[in-house]
Amino acid sequence: MKFRRADFPSDFLFGTATSSYQIEGHAQGGAGPTHWDSFAATPGNVVGADNGDIACDHLNRWEEDLDLIRDAGFDVYRFSTSWARVLPEGTGTPNAEGLDFYDRLVDGILERGIKPAATLYHWELPQALADRGGWRNRDIGDWFAEFTEVVMGRIGDRVWSAAPINEPFCVGWLSHFLGAHAPGMRDIRATARAMHHILLAHGRSIEVMRGLGMQNLGAVCNFEYVIPADASPAAQKAATLYDGYYNRFFVSGLFNGSYPADVLVGLEPHLPKGWQDDFDTIRAPIDWIGINYYTRKLIGPVDGPWPGHGEVPGTLPKTQVGWEIYPDGLYAFIKRVHEAYARDIPIYITENGMAWDDKVARDGTVSDPRRIAYIEDHLERVKRAADEGLPVKGYFVWSLMDNFEWALGYGPRFGLVHVDYKTLKRTPKASYHALKDALKR
Ligand code: FCB
Repeated sequence: MKFRRADFPSDFLFGTATSSYQIEGHAQGGAGPTHWDSFAATPGNVVGADNGDIACDHLNRWEEDLDLIRDAGFDVYRFSTSWARVLPEGTGTPNAEGLDFYDRLVDGILERGIKPAATLYHWELPQALADRGGWRNRDIGDWFAEFTEVVMGRIGDRVWSAAPINEPFCVGWLSHFLGAHAPGMRDIRATARAMHHILLAHGRSIEVMRGLGMQNLGAVCNFEYVIPADASPAAQKAATLYDGYYNRFFVSGLFNGSYPADVLVGLEPHLPKGWQDDFDTIRAPIDWIGINYYTRKLIGPVDGPWPGHGEVPGTLPKTQVGWEIYPDGLYAFIKRVHEAYARDIPIYITENGMAWDDKVARDGTVSDPRRIAYIEDHLERVKRAADEGLPVKGYFVWSLMDNFEWALGYGPRFGLVHVDYKTLKRTPKASYHALKDALKR
């Protein structure tokens, strides 16, 4: 790596991230069915008809995985808790085995000298709640508050930080408008309601955690740098609107207590009655904001109903999943989120990383020079932001290990550690070793 730990401020934290459904193995340990299981069981939704039944078998191999995190020299580990593993029916009776698992996991993280950063929801909605309308149903505020109480009642005394919901954009728009993720809907009314209820549930969850006396609570949003596909005013307008529902909607709600006017043009007719009255809950003060950043998009107009735009292929080098590599976008979002929304609170880069079709060589090594360069280039922008005095306090690589990449199945490999899905053997890649060297104290 072109950097050393000492190049960053002394309180800057390095971490890595995973999520429950992507690594644990959801067919095990008494977890209830989730909407991702149903989505994956429907032909055509997931590449290779893959699912999260076994995934990386982290449920049984978590100690080995935590050792890898410790040995790399990471300060923080960002993991998530599966709602359906803790409450198989979504509400009601907890699965003791599930709660015990997260309890041991948190202790295991602490025993290794690492800070546990918990995310309550990283997308595996219990099927029982999906059957009741899932994110479209306002009651999800109560359901999520109950889940928060149960999980954090158990581990909240030991986690270093907590965030309710990973990437509201993906839970809302990607899953209900584009239909790309569970529950695979393509419906503007469902989308508007889901987007609002996500923020309502976030606020309720923050209230519950404050009530438990927890500190260091945040929100994790994903951002995509947008540029107009060409110089026309129509392309400019298209890009601005995309930026609106992707990059502005959720942070506007969280920090400003309002939704952007250009996005309301399309969504307001579909928002639930009385949505304006929920901002006191949604704006519950948070202690930090997480930025997940991967890529940029070129957007231009297309014929058809609102939002009337679409993606145009870009020309920059791309990762295995076709995402353009654009590190400047990360710097731009740190500055923008700080100036326009989060103001004085710390910013963490809670996800950044890239997929490549990494292979284990005969000698047992995994060469991934592109990932090393990707991390170096993005960290360079983070460092620039920190040097300029912007309050960016940490950086998490997505991901510790290769895992179930949602609708793309097990093909894309985002890990610092290679996983052989037949034997479940973990093999640290060159990027893992390079980071380990850079993070040495
Ligand atoms: C993010 C998700 C994470 C993973 C990466 C590649 O949007 O939070 O689970 O899929 O993308």
